[in-house]
Amino acid sequence: TQPLRLGIAGLGTVGIGVVKIVKQQAELLSARTGRKIEISAVSARTRDKDRGVSLSGFAWEDDPVALATRDDVDVFVELMGGSDGPAKAATEAALKAGKHVVTANKAMLAVHGQALAEEAEGAGVNLRFEAAVAGGIPVIKTLTESLAGNQITRVMGVMNGTCNYILTRMESAGLTYETVFDEANALGYLEADPTLDVGGIDAGHKLAILASIAFGTQVDFNGIEIEGIERISISDIRHARDMGYRIKLLGVAQMSGRGLESRMSPCLVPANSPLGALEGPTNMCILEGDSVGQIVLRGAGAGEGPTASAVMGDICDIARGLKIATFGVPADQLVQAESARSAVP
Ligand code: NDP
Ligand code: HSE
Repeated sequence: TQPLRLGIAGLGTVGIGVVKIVKQQAELLSARTGRKIEISAVSARTRDKDRGVSLSGFAWEDDPVALATRDDVDVFVELMGGSDGPAKAATEAALKAGKHVVTANKAMLAVHGQALAEEAEGAGVNLRFEAAVAGGIPVIKTLTESLAGNQITRVMGVMNGTCNYILTRMESAGLTYETVFDEANALGYLEADPTLDVGGIDAGHKLAILASIAFGTQVDFNGIEIEGIERISISDIRHARDMGYRIKLLGVAQMSGRGLESRMSPCLVPANSPLGALEGPTNMCILEGDSVGQIVLRGAGAGEGPTASAVMGDICDIARGLKIATFGVPADQLVQAESARSAVP
């Protein structure tokens, strides 16, 4: 069997995590998928940067589009970020060239997911994005595969590690927002534009993707009511604690007779509940289906290892020849949802 050859664009927190796994787990990956997984070429903005891992043996491309369309690339791994610009251009070029795409880019999927899914399915290739929602938690796979026999009634959870880190660390260490924000940055949790995190937009992108898969609807980021954590003060956090609650940036999406109700906003949750007990950059996704009941998935929502783990899972699925509709059902069958505002309890 021919090796599966990767072209990786973006060598930051996540990209370097993927390079490390491919190098360090080569035998395991090959045993589990029946194929060798190799890196053919890489791309980033700056070539001469010490990234803590050797890139020798990989070709270098300055232009991500050139990388995405190389003859020796079977899977284009997009880990640059940004809803448009080079990430979108290179992803489109890869799909047009008949390459599979694996990405962690929720901003791009929340805005262009529908069009990209149609492009991928038309070309007969995979567009996979497990890492885009809740980092290391396999929530996309759970919804599209394990819960395929269920009518999903509700999806909810904490989906931004940075916000959960900030809120819980401010409370436990009594540190200022600014100090904790800098810590989160040093740990690699933040988006290149951190207002996406603290403004609730990143978590909103994730909820839009999950809702599409859960309810078979077109990705509708604009239908989500969003409020971030910027206005939460240490005294809000302390007052909530004194009453037995904690403040979480919580997303909820559910289908009602009125349409798709979805909201991402700071909420009070009981301190002794599973959601209330979440510390640090941890995420929790709660899925409800008519047959299965409620499922709770908990794990690291950000950072090098957890996010690279999810990217590798997608790459391994492609190596095994698995093919799954991008959003669970073919993209041209996704229906447009009526969005019902302000109805989420
Ligand atoms: P980083 O900012 O750490 O890395 C981004 C990488 O992309 C850098 O290597 C950068 O190059 C490269 N890059 C940026 N612009 C260009 C360009 N125009 N051309 C070529 N290369 C470019 O980001 P992350 O690794 O944190 O995130 C990557 C993606 O993963 C994003 O979509 C993010 O939302 C997503 N994600 C991140 C998680 C995390 O915990 N960090 C978790 C889940 C998803 P250079 O290094 O030279 O500057
Ligand atoms: N900035 C994001 C977070 C990365 O903090 O959750 C993971 O998507």
